[in-house]
Amino acid sequence: MTNCIGKTLGQDIIDENNLLILAAGTEITETLVRRLQNFGIYYLSIKEPLTDDLDITNPISDQTIITAANAIASLDIDKAFEAADKIVADMTSNSAILGNGFMILREYDENTAFHSISVAVFSIMLGMSLGLSMVRLRNLSVGALLHDIGKSQIPIEILNKTGSLTAEETELMRQHPKYGYNMVKDDVLMPIPVKSIILQHHENWDGSGYPRKLKEDKIYELASITHICDVFDALISKRSYKEAFSYKDSLDYMESMRGIMFNPYCLDYFFSEVPIYKVGLKVTLNTGETAIVVKNTRGDMRRPIIRMEATGQDINLREVPVDELFIES
Ligand SMILES: [Fe+2]
Repeated sequence: MTNCIGKTLGQDIIDENNLLILAAGTEITETLVRRLQNFGIYYLSIKEPLTDDLDITNPISDQTIITAANAIASLDIDKAFEAADKIVADMTSNSAILGNGFMILREYDENTAFHSISVAVFSIMLGMSLGLSMVRLRNLSVGALLHDIGKSQIPIEILNKTGSLTAEETELMRQHPKYGYNMVKDDVLMPIPVKSIILQHHENWDGSGYPRKLKEDKIYELASITHICDVFDALISKRSYKEAFSYKDSLDYMESMRGIMFNPYCLDYFFSEVPIYKVGLKVTLNTGETAIVVKNTRGDMRRPIIRMEATGQDINLREVPVDELFIES
């Protein structure tokens, strides 16, 4: 969040009781950042002059983000259901702004809660594009929010380890879907699809995943959706053991895993229908030039309309040869 200092706030910040904490348009100072952190707010939407005309609103409200983050951090299942329903309600009632994409500007990228919220939002976007019913979207939302609860059973030293894991540590890490499943399996009020997401979100399409090495359509579809969005968010985020990968490398990797890690049908929908880039996001192109993402259009979300920072010119990447101009990071 410190990289926001001197910039302009793009969105009102509202607390859980609907009270305005900070109005859009406020200049962000170091003192403000510190005070916001005291409120438990670690993310901000930024407005740049070049993006004044853009709607950079997230498809879920700040209150929903705060509710969800608290639920995940405290492992409160009832609150997670409440937050999951809010996410679906926000997204299905704001479908006009889904194309804006989603991003929480995170100072602490390794934060499991924010990662899980991103996974939930991207999973719902993918689920909506696949035409899932409301009931399935709500199950997907809870499952995505809770997919990594089993990590609460893994020692923190292993979770936060900066170097590579030993074979034993890797084996232990790979138990987290089972640990998570064991935490919820006797909860009669939790729908089976939610339990399946927790257990199966690391199963790979070709049977090389874990814990049960399930293959193809033996893997529950909602778990396949969560798997794609989990890997996407993990790749583009900084973690204790790695820097964030560039968008180019992340998306190329994901495509190379079509039919290997990922359900090919769901992955095709992810690339064609899910807004990968947040509108207003500053990106660097292969030419070294910088641009702002202006608009996502369905069909190929890897090729949005961008605005060149140097000239202010808008370019629809889909009208330019793929190798000539692309988003690097
Ligand atoms: Fe996981």
